[in-house]
Amino acid sequence: MLDDKLLRELGTLKDQVRFSKKFTIDKDFDNVVVAGMGGSGIVGRIFSELYSEKPVEVVSDYQLPKYANDRTLVIGVSYSGNTEETISVLNQAQKNNCITVAITSGGKISGMGFQTVLIPGGLQPRSSLGYMLMPILSTFLDITNNVRDATFERLKNMDEDHSKEEMLALEIFKGQRIPVIMGFFPFSWVAYRWKTQFNENSKIMAFSNYFPELNHNETMAIGDTFRRDMFEYIAFRGSSNNRIEKRIEETSKITGVDFYQVTAEGNSIIEKLFFLVHYGDYVSYHLAKLRNVDPQDVSKIELLKKRLA
Ligand code: PA5
Repeated sequence: MLDDKLLRELGTLKDQVRFSKKFTIDKDFDNVVVAGMGGSGIVGRIFSELYSEKPVEVVSDYQLPKYANDRTLVIGVSYSGNTEETISVLNQAQKNNCITVAITSGGKISGMGFQTVLIPGGLQPRSSLGYMLMPILSTFLDITNNVRDATFERLKNMDEDHSKEEMLALEIFKGQRIPVIMGFFPFSWVAYRWKTQFNENSKIMAFSNYFPELNHNETMAIGDTFRRDMFEYIAFRGSSNNRIEKRIEETSKITGVDFYQVTAEGNSIIEKLFFLVHYGDYVSYHLAKLRNVDPQDVSKIELLKKRLA
């Protein structure tokens, strides 16, 4: 019997886009390092595609880059506040006198003594993307209330009807396929977010890449790989760059493979981004249901953390 806690959590994403806390950064900085793992690490990756005023490096490991100094802004993102890799980077950031801030729901990080945006606890990290992403976006980009409201409405509609997402889940399930999600700027890391949602919610392997890079490698393999029918190619559509749209169409023709197409809906980048995120959330959720696995369960990740503690 499946617990639908994850479904309830998915339903909170629309409210998360209205989360208004942000950082006060009153020192000038030259570059940004965002440290975080897994469901928290995706926040920095998505941010790195939306912000290009200054260099952004995402660290999903133990080491702070050597260049980081008192003109580096280090943002630690950890839902639990107890993730050892993120704490390691934050410790080094403090030693190097970096401008150090964090987003967490509590744990050790909330007691490390720097500016912290506290977010609501009790959810899975991957169900808290809005709580973790919006404070960073609100600090560095101009996200108007109109954009937040339009995104809220779009996500609300998706919560009320996710039959299209269920159809894609059924197609993957029936074919016992491995999803390969193909994104494009500024949603390349949203394709990766789909991959991680398939991993954690549906308990299946999945892969992601993005146009145009995949035209320089995977294009040779899509139609010719071993066990070609084992992959479900999912291409995001709706790029504002018509060269990317042309690439997607030609790649499908050249490889002889039909891509399942998911068009980004919305009137702003933020609305499109959350639309694509939520679409993947629901596909992975429905696939978990079809497979009769618990989408909430991350016991193996937790066991590993315990063994390393
Ligand atoms: O989704 C998950 O549970 C994991 O990917 C976690 O996000 C990851 O292990 C890092 O933990 P935290 O988000 O608490 O820093």
